Amino acid sequence: RKNAVITAVGGYVPDTILSNHDLEKMVDTNNEWIVARTGIKERRIVNDPNIATSDMATYALKRLMEEGNVDPDEIDCVIVSTSTPDYVMVSTGSMVCEKAGLKNAWGIDTNAACSGFLYALTLGSSMIESGRCKKVVVIGADKNSSIINYADRNTCILFGDGAGAVLLEQTEEPVGLMDSYFRTDGSGKENLIVTAGGSKFPASQQTLDDKLHYVRQDGRVVFKAAIQGMTDTCNKVLKSNDLESSQINYLIPHQANLRIIQSVGDYLGLSEDQVKVNIDRYGNTTAATIPLCLWDFKDDFKYGDKLMLTAFGAGFSWGATYLKW
Ligand code: ACO
Repeated sequence: RKNAVITAVGGYVPDTILSNHDLEKMVDTNNEWIVARTGIKERRIVNDPNIATSDMATYALKRLMEEGNVDPDEIDCVIVSTSTPDYVMVSTGSMVCEKAGLKNAWGIDTNAACSGFLYALTLGSSMIESGRCKKVVVIGADKNSSIINYADRNTCILFGDGAGAVLLEQTEEPVGLMDSYFRTDGSGKENLIVTAGGSKFPASQQTLDDKLHYVRQDGRVVFKAAIQGMTDTCNKVLKSNDLESSQINYLIPHQANLRIIQSVGDYLGLSEDQVKVNIDRYGNTTAATIPLCLWDFKDDFKYGDKLMLTAFGAGFSWGATYLKW
């Protein structure tokens, strides 16, 4: 089998910083509580009504093309994973292809909330492995500030905006995406959901009055399920690839809560410097957390390093992906 390998990475976060001290002025919370319970010090927020998810995704892709010296005409496909698309109808992928000037690519969206980037990475890799496409861009992008109620302290402290992009190409070398294991369980929807705006509860005065267009979460349920789900799927992937966790160089976990990240790292027996963390600066950027970590820490990874990527999110959806850099 020919593998799909990541050959370029790009990232984007908005300039505007929303610090814990800013949030202290908006809801009944404090910096110490947020840092101790989540590890988040600040997050980035889009501060321009003209900037949508596709714009952030395009900025990340343009950075990828510049730094990776990628010819836009050679990109075959763009998969955008997001739960905050620009529009209900018209894919964000389509907008990105237009805004980034990709003449020969087609664009689509996938949505698996915080697990979305990993799912999209496996879809994109399959298209490369099959030979159907030569260059596939996978983007995780979310403008969470568009679905957060900044009067709800249970959620507004957690989320930020951002986008990350990777380019996948075929390789004959023994590197690239090696394996994935994913799960979904729709019964988890009651614990983490944006209820309205889709076909089940179309937007109406009632859904607006009931604040059903915002993220609603039972944090404690999600917290426990996230640690369990991420640890289980990492172990499953390790086992099916005859690997011990000690052979993994780096864990790239979805950045939802530092305590979740540390627990998963501890269960896998990894040291602190093996577990990549940027939640302190960006908060939870949903589908963007993992590609933003790849972007932030790419200079630490050497050719052939073994990376375990793992995520948990709304759905519930969760899983792990093993790749050699
Ligand atoms: N500031 C101060 N106090 C607060 C805040 C706040 N922002 N929020 C809650 N509290 C209070 C609570 O009211 C509660 O008070 P009480 O004991 O008097 O009832 C107390 O702090 C403890 O609340 P918990 O909810 O038990 O706090 P916990 O330690 O669980 O932290 C958190 C809450 C941060 C939300 C955590 O549960 C969490 O991170 N959950 C997982 C989030 C996640 O992984 N989401 C999935 C990905 S997101 C996606 O897919 C889109």
